[in-house]
Amino acid sequence: MTLEGRYQTTEQQIQEAAELLRDGKLVAFPTETVYGLGANALDFLAVSRIFHAKGRPETSPLIVHVATIEMARELAAEWPETAQKLAERFWPGPLTLVVRKKPVIPDIVTAGLPTVGLRMPAHPVALALLRASGIPIAAPSANRFTQLSPTTAEHVRQGLGRRVDYILDGGGCEVGIESTVVSLVGEAPSILRPGGVPRNEIEAVIGPITAGPHPVEGAHPSPGLHPQHYSPRTPLLLVSGGRVPEQGKGAYLQLRSAALHNAATVNMPAEPREYAARLYATLHELDDGGYDWIAVDVPEEAPEWEGVLDRLRRASFR
Ligand code: TXA
Ligand code: MG
Repeated sequence: MTLEGRYQTTEQQIQEAAELLRDGKLVAFPTETVYGLGANALDFLAVSRIFHAKGRPETSPLIVHVATIEMARELAAEWPETAQKLAERFWPGPLTLVVRKKPVIPDIVTAGLPTVGLRMPAHPVALALLRASGIPIAAPSANRFTQLSPTTAEHVRQGLGRRVDYILDGGGCEVGIESTVVSLVGEAPSILRPGGVPRNEIEAVIGPITAGPHPVEGAHPSPGLHPQHYSPRTPLLLVSGGRVPEQGKGAYLQLRSAALHNAATVNMPAEPREYAARLYATLHELDDGGYDWIAVDVPEEAPEWEGVLDRLRRASFR
């Protein structure tokens, strides 16, 4: 029997994966944003395996995935009204809420911070896994540290190989970039990482929010926000007006300029959500194409483009 027909995943595979998670093992699973590398969030040793498998510094806090709003509230020491409003509006979905944590969450999950990022993912396979395991699942994106995030099970296999105990295949990720991370612990809400839910939609629910740090410059309140992140192996350049390098074999992600003859041109969607859904998959593919550079038309500065712009800036940081 397959889950909801559309997916290859069977009920039996979900049960098997849930069992492994309860046993302290690592399970990669699909979410609507990117694939996650999951472990039992309440098990210190299991979570330490995530850092090891990713090669990720322990100063980088993990997001804890939950099956319901009630489960989130049980892990939070405080659940502000803003959290309730945002969860009711956007969960399940690509929004992570940073709130004060209860001691039951081991310090390794939050990199020693007194807060925890909580998210209820929208992918049916992720939700089925959360329900079957009955535990909160700590999961970063299922890639090696600083590399491109995976949006297919095959990306996970290529990037992590045998470092992961089990991979659930739920097809391609619909949102395609990571969740928006909103902190609700400061004096006013702030966006720590732009992502799947655009700022203007969040502001429509809780009012104006501060921008948070610039993605590349300066110190970050969120230790996971390293400037170089989400990067293909091939050097990525942000360009405008089709001004790409003259040397070498290049690929060009075109948004609005005319096609170029000295580069393999990929037409990207002009609509930000569709663009986001295609971004990582396109970069994964080009990364295997033996190019010297990937030039990307830089999208306009607008709220709907913030998530994509953030990922492109980090991917181009060297
Ligand atoms: O869409 C997503 O969010 C994916 C899927 C798997 O859910 N997960 C993901 O996890 O992108 P990761 O570990 O790659 O990114 C987690 C982000 C980092 O920027 C981290 O700094 C921030 O969330 N974060 C997590 N907990 C935090 C906390 N307590 N305080 C501040 N930032 C936190
Ligand atoms: Mg990541």
